[in-house]
Amino acid sequence: MQRDGRDVRRILVTGGAGFIGSNFIRHVHEHHPHIELVNLDMLTYAGNLENLEGVAGRYAFVQGDIRNPQDAARAMAGVDVVVNFAAETHVDRSIHDPGDFILTDVYGVYVLLEAMKGCGVRLFIHVSTDEVYGSTAAGRFDEESPLNPSSPYSASKAGGDRLAYSYFVTYGLPVLIARPANNYGPYQYPEKLIPFFITRALQDQPLPLYGDGGNRRDWLFVEDTVRGLLALMERGEPGQAYNLGAGQERSNLEVTRAILTLLGKPESLVQRVADRKGHDFRYALEWGKMRALGWEPRVEFDAGLRRTVEWYRRNEAWWRKLIAKKDYLGHLKKNYE
Ligand code: NAD
Ligand code: TYD
Repeated sequence: MQRDGRDVRRILVTGGAGFIGSNFIRHVHEHHPHIELVNLDMLTYAGNLENLEGVAGRYAFVQGDIRNPQDAARAMAGVDVVVNFAAETHVDRSIHDPGDFILTDVYGVYVLLEAMKGCGVRLFIHVSTDEVYGSTAAGRFDEESPLNPSSPYSASKAGGDRLAYSYFVTYGLPVLIARPANNYGPYQYPEKLIPFFITRALQDQPLPLYGDGGNRRDWLFVEDTVRGLLALMERGEPGQAYNLGAGQERSNLEVTRAILTLLGKPESLVQRVADRKGHDFRYALEWGKMRALGWEPRVEFDAGLRRTVEWYRRNEAWWRKLIAKKDYLGHLKKNYE
């Protein structure tokens, strides 16, 4: 892997014990044997070192907080590229308790960017989200569309996204921004729609579908995201934002039915519950800028969902440990017991 004609030798991944970060580390470890990886993760409820089992050699784990300047500086020493995944990520938790979202998804980004000053990092990829554009009933957002986030999660992510940009403009730091659509796949913490419903259905528990189930998301398989981030590492331009869409839009009811069909479970498991507060109706992206870099999503939703369901079936021990923990689902736990 090269950038600007020079090898990328060492990558700092923050939040590498989470869902997308661990998939990224596994992929790079397997396919890029000359790259060393450092994983800075504070292991919140969403961080799980079991996601990285078997990753050894050319890999170092540092337990630390991106909001702590010493942790950030230590982890960044000698690094060519930083990929910042670390964040609070669940919209429902952000509605109940926004504080940690602001502290990690905005302030934490500031601490990392400060640590980057004068330390020789050649590229900082900030992982933002499609949710920064807010919801739209029709059409698709491109990178020039105004940001209009509407949950404490997406508003915090928009803060981090623009702060990263400001360090490019103001200090000339080589920072770029990736905005992926909703991800799904192996190792996703079972609070997000797809793994939550798969694991509940496997236990014959009701699936709490918000509102009328008509809200829509575009579903990007995690491997496609990882390939997109690697394309950005090689060819992305500092100062730019890049959408990573999937073109696999589904309503939540369609997703729920597809899960039930794959598992051979009855539709009677679906339980209509009160809508999420401020529930964004639909996210949709144009990804022509990524296409121009040579990236396209490859995994269609039906195939990706089949692989994901299979993974959760085979890795019951992995998710059973998580759902047995006291902090599983946080404040929502009481609603689902
Ligand atoms: P995740 O919740 O599975 O993992 C987050 C990881 O960050 C965990 O390992 C956690 O321990 C770590 N972390 C949290 N706060 C930290 C801190 N202060 N210091 C160090 N580590 C900390 O998240 P994910 O779903 O893998 O998402 C990764 C990134 O991608 C996030 O920035 C998220 O906003 C973005 N994103 C996610 C999706 C999605 O659908 N999952 C879509 C678009 C963008
Ligand atoms: P989620 O996986 O939380 O991702 P995001 O809100 O960041 O897109 O939710 C995806 C969709 O599924 C969203 O429209 C909310 C809905 N949803 C439910 O209907 N029930 C649930 O229990 C969860 C977690 C989500």
